[in-house]
Amino acid sequence: MPPYIIINCAMSADGKIALPSRKQIRISNEEDLKRVHELRNECDAVLVGIGTVLSDDPKLTVKEKYVPNPKQPIRIVLDSKGRIPEDSLVLSPESPTIIAVSEECTNQIQGAETIICGKKKINLSQLCEILDEKGVKTLLVEGGEKVIWSFLKNRLADELNIFVGSMVIGGISSPTPVGGKGALKEEDILPLTLKKVEKLGDGVLLQYGVKR
Ligand SMILES: NC(=O)c1ccc[n+]([C@@H]2O[C@H](COP(=O)([O-])OP(=O)(O)OC[C@H]3O[C@@H](n4cnc5c(N)ncnc54)[C@H](OP(=O)(O)O)[C@@H]3O)[C@@H](O)[C@H]2O)c1
Repeated sequence: MPPYIIINCAMSADGKIALPSRKQIRISNEEDLKRVHELRNECDAVLVGIGTVLSDDPKLTVKEKYVPNPKQPIRIVLDSKGRIPEDSLVLSPESPTIIAVSEECTNQIQGAETIICGKKKINLSQLCEILDEKGVKTLLVEGGEKVIWSFLKNRLADELNIFVGSMVIGGISSPTPVGGKGALKEEDILPLTLKKVEKLGDGVLLQYGVKR
């Protein structure tokens, strides 16, 4: 059984997830941060792309402030060429980290388990099979825009959670929740099922089901 996959991200009211420079900004409010940390703690693993590691340097752990005695999910980075800097916070010792690399990667990565899946880019279906063998039953995908597009395009996601923060970022080049090549024709558009709309403080949480 492939893992149950939940995509989560936070965007502004105008649909942007970072500044035009791709620099991270805080979009989630305290209520949403609590929800995200609880969700992380419920999942077996949390995944981001190397783009997010290079721009945001996230730690991807569960903060005690939001969840007492957290169990800490496995952290996973999609990093075909092994570009991850050795001082990245995602390599901190609090929980295990897996770096998914391609066959082209020649770099040695310290402080993490390396798994090879895919010739040039990471083959997500193959990765899901490996994660299943490792006992990962629920996977939280936290971005960024290229990775979210890949999971959706490959029909691997089950849920899409979007928190809409009450702010406008603007900028034609600001990243959005889903990037990549996008739907090239109308038939490629991915339909969603709206499951829940919830006011969280001064923002809104949108929860969608995604058909695999
Ligand atoms: N607001 C939010 O909720 C939120 C959350 C996370 C990130 N962000 C923002 O998102 C932006 C980063 O997004 P991004 O699109 O540049 O980076 P990304 O999606 O985090 O990472 C993309 C990179 O992952 C690697 N990759 C390997 N296999 C892949 C596959 N199968 N599919 C897709 N990517 C694969 C590729 O690099 P290689 O070819 O080198 O492997 C690719 O360029 C930043 O501005 C960050 O602040 C916002």
